[in-house]
Amino acid sequence: MRSHYCGELNESHVDQDVLLYGWVHRRRDHGGVIFLDVRDREGIAQVVYDPDTVESFAIAEGVRNEFVIKVQGRVRLRPEGTINSEMPTGKIEVLGKQLEVLNAADTPPIQLDEHVEVNEDLRLTYRYLDLRRPEMAERLRFRSKVANTVRNFMDSNGFLDIETPLLTKATPEGARDYLVPSRTHPNRFFALPQSPQLFKQILMASGMDRYYQIAKCFRDEDLRADRQPEFTQIDVETSFMDEHEIMVIMEEMVRHLFKTHMDVEFDSFPQMSHAEAMRRYGSDKPDLRIDLELVDIADLMAAVDFKVFAGPAKDPESRVVALRVPGGASLSRKIIDDYTKFVGIYGAKGLAWIKVNDIAAGMDGLQSPIIKFIGAEVTAELIQKLQAQTGDIIFFGADKAKVVNEAIGALRIKVAEDLELVRDGWAPLWVVDFPMFEENSDGSITSLHHPFTAPACDAQELIDNPLGALSRAYDMVLNGTELGGGSVRINKPQMQQAVFQALGIGEAEAEEKFGFLLKALSFGCPPHGGIAFGLDRLIMLMTDSSSIREVIAFPKTQSAACPLTDAPGQVSSQQLAELNIRLREVKPPS
Ligand code: AMO
Ligand code: AMP
Repeated sequence: MRSHYCGELNESHVDQDVLLYGWVHRRRDHGGVIFLDVRDREGIAQVVYDPDTVESFAIAEGVRNEFVIKVQGRVRLRPEGTINSEMPTGKIEVLGKQLEVLNAADTPPIQLDEHVEVNEDLRLTYRYLDLRRPEMAERLRFRSKVANTVRNFMDSNGFLDIETPLLTKATPEGARDYLVPSRTHPNRFFALPQSPQLFKQILMASGMDRYYQIAKCFRDEDLRADRQPEFTQIDVETSFMDEHEIMVIMEEMVRHLFKTHMDVEFDSFPQMSHAEAMRRYGSDKPDLRIDLELVDIADLMAAVDFKVFAGPAKDPESRVVALRVPGGASLSRKIIDDYTKFVGIYGAKGLAWIKVNDIAAGMDGLQSPIIKFIGAEVTAELIQKLQAQTGDIIFFGADKAKVVNEAIGALRIKVAEDLELVRDGWAPLWVVDFPMFEENSDGSITSLHHPFTAPACDAQELIDNPLGALSRAYDMVLNGTELGGGSVRINKPQMQQAVFQALGIGEAEAEEKFGFLLKALSFGCPPHGGIAFGLDRLIMLMTDSSSIREVIAFPKTQSAACPLTDAPGQVSSQQLAELNIRLREVKPPS
């Protein structure tokens, strides 16, 4: 057994004999002495072999990168001038006495001893090598520690860690299900849970009172940097607490995590209504490190001759907004064209702009393709309303509210990043007062959270005006990422049925899909509510990683595959026959 991890060694170990096990990170031959950087999970230590120890020196000459070795030696201070202040172990080295090769290694396809950008597919194919890289090991260690703090926090607040099934029935969270065929029930399928939502509510009906679980969730949806098909939630549910009480305790947990692991102290989190977040930031997860805001200008544009603006200005379902960006007047035509393409991704048909080159020069100090359409008078009012200054650019969005919010909301973040207008640090908040439902383009409605979320109104009001109803849901947002979301739940069957009715789920369908829940609500289900945090997202933010794939040991690719194991794989015809499944021919893409 090792005496120390390589990364642990420091001046306090000088003159101690140590036994290390690790991998050869790098080998350097310095005319007469051989330096081996030996790496394990906790870090790297420099081991020196000189020709006096004849046998070990000969072995050291033969080792190559990624060989697994056993080192015995004595810690000493590095000579003056050879101290490496970049390395935690940089003040010491180990004078090697014995060396044993425990296993050889082929030349790795990923270079581990220097930071080089490696194609992600290659990293995932050789994930075991990728995870040997110190920054990856550090992230996994950090994740383990944070998860442990979560468990301790929940435990000390009386929450029970209860596991819920993975082979289950569909839980609607807005994605497609991953299905698992049943052998014992031909033509029937389990669904992997999109979340433990229904089980945690049923645990409340069971009187468990306070539940938590670090739970795997499965969602077949379009993948992005902060989305994986299989991810982990810190899942929480509690009885007899209202939304304010739940938010207080969960905020305390997040504050405790940041204090413990980052030495960051948060003030109490501000709360913002969903309506305000959409109006000012075009987003239900605003990044408050960015001061830029969307300003409604429909009042100024309703009467102008420019149809692109006047049309939406007069349409209650549309918005006309301006986004004033300090320092943006220096943006080149090419960059503005790129931004125009960027907002096009969200359906925007164009991106009008005004540059304020010199505010003192009046109209002559402005530059824009649209002033000729909207006229000097309206332009002057606009400049006044936005308090524009020399050096600003003003961007405009005019379209259906959804398009404007998505396009200009995304532009706000992109421009802020490009012009370095994003403040350092942390900006947490709660978004509250979400609508219960949103309308789809075909006129049908879906839940903004999930159909088990309690409305803030009574059942009759909900049925009469579903799109006007607010819910008792809350999201925790950190630096523009939705970290967690939850709500007070419906705990009475009548209200649950009213929501199903509003969603167009008939009685028969409700019974078939959620009969077990309705039944559970009818046997004395207590008032309850909860939340789930994305653990991967939390760790991504805390470690300043570019994607959640960087903080998951074995993530899937953008196309939801695992290059390491080559999953999903084919199955034998015998397995298919047992499952009563026949495959259809897949047409090659034309
Ligand atoms: P929701 O669907 O908002 O709520 O999920 C909660 C949190 O889980 C994280 N998350 C994801 N992380 C990585 N990849 C994904 N594909 C992914 N999808 C979601 C996010 C999100 O905030 N049952 C409810 C919670 C509740 O009401 O208690 C639920 O699952 O950080
Ligand atoms: P056009 O008259 O279509 O050439 O548009 C004049 C300016 O308005 C150009 O800068 C377009 O990019 C911009 N524009 C067009 N449609 C929109 C829109 N829906 N929202 C914001 N700007 C737009």
